[in-house]
Amino acid sequence: MRMYDIIEKKKLGMVLSEDEIKYFVNGYTEGKIPDYQVSALLMAIYFKGMNEKETSVLTLAMAKSGEMLDLSDIDGIKVDKHSTGGVGDKTTLVIAPMVAALGIPVAKMSGRGLGHTGGTIDKLEAFDGFSTKVEKDTFVNNVNKIKIAIAGQTANLAPADKKLYALRDVTATVDNISLIASSIMSKKIASGANAIVLDVKTGSGAFMKKEEDAFELAKEMVNIGTGLDRDVAAIISDMDQPLGRAVGNSLEVIEAIETLRGNGPKDLLELCLTLGSFMVKAAGKTKTAEEGRKLLEQTISSGTAIEKLKELVRAQGGNEEFVDNTDLFKKASITEPIKADRSGYVSHIEANEIGVASMILGGGRETKESIIDLSVGIVIEKKVGDKVSEGDILAYIHGNDQQKIKLAKEKALTAYEFSDGKPKETKFIKGII
Ligand code: URA
Repeated sequence: MRMYDIIEKKKLGMVLSEDEIKYFVNGYTEGKIPDYQVSALLMAIYFKGMNEKETSVLTLAMAKSGEMLDLSDIDGIKVDKHSTGGVGDKTTLVIAPMVAALGIPVAKMSGRGLGHTGGTIDKLEAFDGFSTKVEKDTFVNNVNKIKIAIAGQTANLAPADKKLYALRDVTATVDNISLIASSIMSKKIASGANAIVLDVKTGSGAFMKKEEDAFELAKEMVNIGTGLDRDVAAIISDMDQPLGRAVGNSLEVIEAIETLRGNGPKDLLELCLTLGSFMVKAAGKTKTAEEGRKLLEQTISSGTAIEKLKELVRAQGGNEEFVDNTDLFKKASITEPIKADRSGYVSHIEANEIGVASMILGGGRETKESIIDLSVGIVIEKKVGDKVSEGDILAYIHGNDQQKIKLAKEKALTAYEFSDGKPKETKFIKGII
């Protein structure tokens, strides 16, 4: 088999065989096929597309390029969730304890973040002492004992995707639905869960700016997963403004704790209950998602979810007192308000701009080597639809460096758009597949 022929075939819009896909995935992972040939193939895929079968074969080949986690030592149906990413997305920190509080095993591998804020793993490290490097045995034991463990992805999880994603990033081939779907699903399949609930974001702060693209991506991922014997559901949710109010690592953890105590922002709670309800159903705990939602609501009102978070923090070496006393989280030294420069209604908050503002403060990584400042970020006071008068506080900037705060403030202010009349309400949950 020759890589040249595979590129030529896809250039002409033909369907690649299973052997051809495995050949290029394995050859590239092992360093036998050079970047320039794989770049050419990726561009051909970008323009000519892949059918369902090709996408599914690519997913499995990438999943099998490294360790396939075997979670069979964990009792029960293992459910996982994945978000396609957005600004202020701290849903895992809320959903995982709620679902685990119902006795459903949550064995979660999460990533660090590159971009606006850290990933779940970075955020959990805001708890003093919390370790996300968990040995396989401890991981399995913890899930069996307390129903929850959250660990960093091992380096050997879908290494083909790691290499291909890095190449796509520099060859303008990221935004292809088959490539995104196979990339995400390869990691989920390798992570060993039986059921997966996907949160596919759409809007200005999401990968998929257009709703129809988000639906297409969701359908493709559900197809891949079901074809590989996983129970998969996808929720398409709005990311036209940041989720909740907090953007930044410790600030997001504090908001997640507030949500588990029943004092969270409406949109965040709604998304967590929706995603969580499908996890509860997939785990076989309830027949319908609606029943699952009721059980999840009870974990908040009864306090079992917040207790589960404490158990998780304790089991992974962290200081659980942070849950009861959020003043213990490292705080930024300066808090400055951002004020409205006109009166009217907030009509839009460009989520990406808020994300960039948080990154300027040091809350996200620009490169893999960047060190995150967990204390900084932005807390939004006025969201879309809120009425404001000139001089009202729109948001607070939490930072440690006056120069960075000045830049972040300018950036965050440009994120806000206003209208004279109240903007039309849009649906937050766009659809379920
Ligand atoms: N996230 C991924 O893991 N892969 C993609 O291709 C896009 C988003």
